[in-house]
Amino acid sequence: MAQRKKKQSRRKEKLNVLLVGGGGREHALAQKMSKSPSLGKLYSTHVGNPGIAAHAKPTDCPYDPKNWYRLERFCERAEIDLIVVGPEVDLANGIGDALRTKDRAVFGPDIDGARLESSKAWAKVLMRAASIPTAEGRVFKTAESANEYIESRTEPVVVKASGLAAGKGVLVCDKGSEAIDAVRRIMHDREFGDAGDEVIIEERLHGEEVSLLALTDGGSIYVLDTCKDHKRLLDGDAGPNTGGMGAYSPAPALTDKQLAEVQRHVLIPVLDALRREEVDFCGVLYAGLILTHGGPKVLEFNVRFGDPECQTLLPRMKCDLVDVLHATATGRLDEASIDWDKRHSVCVVLASEGYPAKPITGRKITGLAEAASVSGVNVFHAGVKRGEDGGYVTAGGRVLNIVALGDTLEEARAKADEACAMIEFEGMQRRHDIGAGAPAPAG
Ligand code: AMP
Ligand code: GLY
Repeated sequence: MAQRKKKQSRRKEKLNVLLVGGGGREHALAQKMSKSPSLGKLYSTHVGNPGIAAHAKPTDCPYDPKNWYRLERFCERAEIDLIVVGPEVDLANGIGDALRTKDRAVFGPDIDGARLESSKAWAKVLMRAASIPTAEGRVFKTAESANEYIESRTEPVVVKASGLAAGKGVLVCDKGSEAIDAVRRIMHDREFGDAGDEVIIEERLHGEEVSLLALTDGGSIYVLDTCKDHKRLLDGDAGPNTGGMGAYSPAPALTDKQLAEVQRHVLIPVLDALRREEVDFCGVLYAGLILTHGGPKVLEFNVRFGDPECQTLLPRMKCDLVDVLHATATGRLDEASIDWDKRHSVCVVLASEGYPAKPITGRKITGLAEAASVSGVNVFHAGVKRGEDGGYVTAGGRVLNIVALGDTLEEARAKADEACAMIEFEGMQRRHDIGAGAPAPAG
């Protein structure tokens, strides 16, 4: 196991932080950390994102996700105390293993803990061994055996690439022929690359979905307020799965009783199971849940903040974020203090034409300053860069996250809509039903 989270009862007054990752989630983290009384200097590996660049200085070395050596030297030079890792792919590539030292904390697990997300097959086996409620599923290493299994079943199934696929490697199928086609796309056409070395075929579950994110230092758990992500591209949950087209918080679909149940039957058992595997986990434990008639079941685990869940949660968190993340990464989570803004937040993702299959980029964006001036609205840059004329252009699939706070969910939705209407780029895609039809809060 790597040098790890020795419980530190004292820490420096001001912490130098390196933020890794370049999307809307990281812009939201940078903005929130920049307001932390505990922050010394903030650096970022991805200042090509103008939103992040507004808060963080660049590292003086290129970002190379295959080789952490230069970043390690940078951390020494810049006296970095805490590395906050946004994307799962960096955790799966061993950034935690490479950069964590006795005096330098990393918020996020090592490769062994990241497997909970980077191998759905491993996670399935772990869940089964720990009796964690999840969809019945089988893991296959060949298309032939997967197809044989599909043909033996009459109920609809879900076909999943086991590895990391940016939220797109899950194909929900109505018919056996669709499932066989899904296996072909994943294992033969390699649509998701190496992520398709193994597939999981699962029973298709029905129910409302919610995301439950918890901070953990491996021992203590702090469950963040509820939120819900909308994963399908189009209104009414139609179209293909995406990384997430919007989110809102709180998400009353998960009652207090269910929350306690998930803590008891999912979060605590998974941490116990990780410990049995000698995995020392810290960071975010994210359970993607579906609320079935038989109770909440786990669809997936992630090992980092959700994107766009993070963007919708952070504006509601009243805390010194740098202190909270450092406490989580150093075994002091029980000392962290977090309060919640009672207001509702809604995050609408503005995506490029062609997203998620083949996003078209390089399009001029207008209206960002106007949108950001709507009261209670944050505009987070996801796939945005500066154009040659100094203006903003699209640079990714998910381009912007418009996050609005309101006293009611309806008010937050209306403000997000008002701000979205001010922004234009050619081919923009968005959903208009983020947070619509959410159940009323219980009690
Ligand atoms: P995942 O990345 O595993 O969370 O899957 C992405 C999305 O696919 C989920 O948010 C669900 O909408 C859908 N999904 C995944 N697994 C299942 C399942 N067993 N039954 C129904 N829908 C599923
Ligand atoms: N929004 C889903 C995810 O971050 O995986």
